[in-house]
Amino acid sequence: MSFFKDVPICPPNAILGVAKLAREDNSELKVDLSLGAYRDEHGQPVVLPSVREAEKEIYDANMNHEYLGQDGLASFNTAAQGLMFGEGHIVLKEERVYTIQSISGTGSLRLAMDFIKQEFPKDVTVYIPSVTWGNHPAMCTATGLKHTTYSYLDEAGTGLDFELMLQDISAAPEGSIVLLHAIAHNPTGVDPTEAEWDKLRAVMAERRLLPLFDNAYQGFVSGDPNVDAYAVRSWASTGMEMIICSSFAKNFGLYGERTGCVHVVVGVGDAANKEGVASQLRAISRIIYSTCPTFGARIVSTILNSPALRAKWLSDCKAMAHRIDAVRHAVYDRLRELDVKGTWGHVIKQRGMFTFTGIPKEAVLTLQREHHIYLLTNGRASLAGLNQGNVNYFCDCIKAVLGTN
Ligand code: LMR
Repeated sequence: MSFFKDVPICPPNAILGVAKLAREDNSELKVDLSLGAYRDEHGQPVVLPSVREAEKEIYDANMNHEYLGQDGLASFNTAAQGLMFGEGHIVLKEERVYTIQSISGTGSLRLAMDFIKQEFPKDVTVYIPSVTWGNHPAMCTATGLKHTTYSYLDEAGTGLDFELMLQDISAAPEGSIVLLHAIAHNPTGVDPTEAEWDKLRAVMAERRLLPLFDNAYQGFVSGDPNVDAYAVRSWASTGMEMIICSSFAKNFGLYGERTGCVHVVVGVGDAANKEGVASQLRAISRIIYSTCPTFGARIVSTILNSPALRAKWLSDCKAMAHRIDAVRHAVYDRLRELDVKGTWGHVIKQRGMFTFTGIPKEAVLTLQREHHIYLLTNGRASLAGLNQGNVNYFCDCIKAVLGTN
């Protein structure tokens, strides 16, 4: 009799499952738009030139493989703060930020959620967007956090219904947590405008709601991480408390290195509160993964702490954002040229790595089965998988499946 006989089979993950199917498809026609991972003009993974240089510096420095301390790599944490808030930001001057290195976006969010579960009132509720990255609700459930959704998309399902979003968030009980995508909402690519962020901040401050930012794509919208930090920086400068989970997977291309951090911003005059927060986050991370991996943090630290490498990285980041933007426009132009059934303005309104195409699930499955094109079943396409060589094929196949207007 096996101990494992009754273990049920778990269905594949909505994102990683499609990525696996795509990996296993050897067709020359294959267009893999599943994972949010950057690809070059030839569909190949990219190691940024600035990252390659940093790798060499690290190798030449003959570093050891000792454990990092519980906060992680100090020079990484300081650099990550500078990247998030901007050098000289008031929260840094007033020493109101505690930062702990963590395991990319997922590990950082999970650490933050475990902390919230442990330290906040038992019945605290996390509000998440009604459409969001699948790991958000799954992690709330796994952590045992009560969670519910706030409205996000409009009726067409491709743009923001800000008024409805605001209305739902305004109705959250005082002390609730509101999970927000800091930039480049995943899966939709639909973000509030700066004016909308301002309005939302005022409501959240008045209602005493705590923002939990998922900051996974800083730099991928405008090409400039400073511009893309608008929500976090502007909200933090008003004295608002917040938690931010940052990933360096996308903007540094360090997917497999699992590089990230959690920033906790405490209130004005409350710098002393960092001590309790820090001690608990250290204790929680110790029982999940003990200490963090070094390599990715060393790369980010090497780049951000060297003016020359930092400048190179900024230009690498811009190049990625601009290529995706060019592809976004190419998709739109071709769909319009072919008069493919539907309206496609949302493709160029949405931002970041994804477009939430609005292509129905059945059509997505047909694209997969008959044309070797892999989108998520919710219609999300990672534009990074498109390039001049396959964008027309992609649009032609959408036409074949959806027809014309
Ligand atoms: C994605 O959304 O495709 C990425 O963030 C990868 C992942 O782990 O889901």
